Amino acid sequence: MYLLKRARDLQQVLQTLRQEGKSVGFIPTMGALHPGHLSLVDRAKQENQFTVCSIFVNPTQFNDPKDLDLYPRTPGKDIRMLASVGAHLVFMPPPGEIYPPGLDTQLDVSFGLLDNVMEGEFRPGHFQGVAQVVKRFLDLIRPDALYLGQKDFQQVAILRHLVHQLHLPVRIVMCPTLRETDGLAMSSRNVRLSPELRKKASILFETLTATKDMLEDFHPEEIEHFAMGRLSIPGFKPEYFEIVDGNTLQPVDDASQTNFIVACTAIWAGNVRLIDNMIWKSPE
Ligand code: PAF
Repeated sequence: MYLLKRARDLQQVLQTLRQEGKSVGFIPTMGALHPGHLSLVDRAKQENQFTVCSIFVNPTQFNDPKDLDLYPRTPGKDIRMLASVGAHLVFMPPPGEIYPPGLDTQLDVSFGLLDNVMEGEFRPGHFQGVAQVVKRFLDLIRPDALYLGQKDFQQVAILRHLVHQLHLPVRIVMCPTLRETDGLAMSSRNVRLSPELRKKASILFETLTATKDMLEDFHPEEIEHFAMGRLSIPGFKPEYFEIVDGNTLQPVDDASQTNFIVACTAIWAGNVRLIDNMIWKSPE
């Protein structure tokens, strides 16, 4: 497995691969890896001849400097995990390689309504930062396919929009969320939960599951209200529970007239922010 820090070295390896006609799958990460990330590597390996994984805690997507400081960093363990699943190349650049002085990496892309709701509302500027760093990686790596987890459903929608707007020649593959045995979505942030809050954190998955069947009999707003109450247990503070159209991310008004419905939620468990979602109705 290659372990590279410099964009120059990365491009040299990739140039050779391209000349050999090999397809490249790319998995962007911020490290603190868990089996969910490894499942993306597995999928990329099944569909491509070469798999590149980046580990970079991107400062431009953190709207809260405390969150950036507290973001878990486990580079040694991450590298071992990636080697164990057979990733071909790990790119771990220092910030200066991604944001070199003198290079304008700001994007001039509007995400319209996709960026105003849910995470966009509670984490202003977050998606501009995500799009900025992913565009930079796509420019450097030029992969055939980009592998993203469904846990960050809104992020996938934003990046699909980016790829579409800029006509980037990359296929986006959204992979299912991996869960702990009690249903908690795997996340790098879970290690920061106290044992007490960790025990109760399955409330997100339980609420997404329990409210799904209400869609037949209740208006989405009523379900959202009910879910917010259900999530308000001691130690937890829900930010939102929204039932949205999976394409536009706008609130669903009439569920019978919408063929792609996703319930999305974000909650503070102590000082750890957790997100999750569930596709309730899928067009496929
Ligand atoms: O989902 C993440 O871990 C990050 O937002 C990403 C896509 C690696 C960009 O920094």
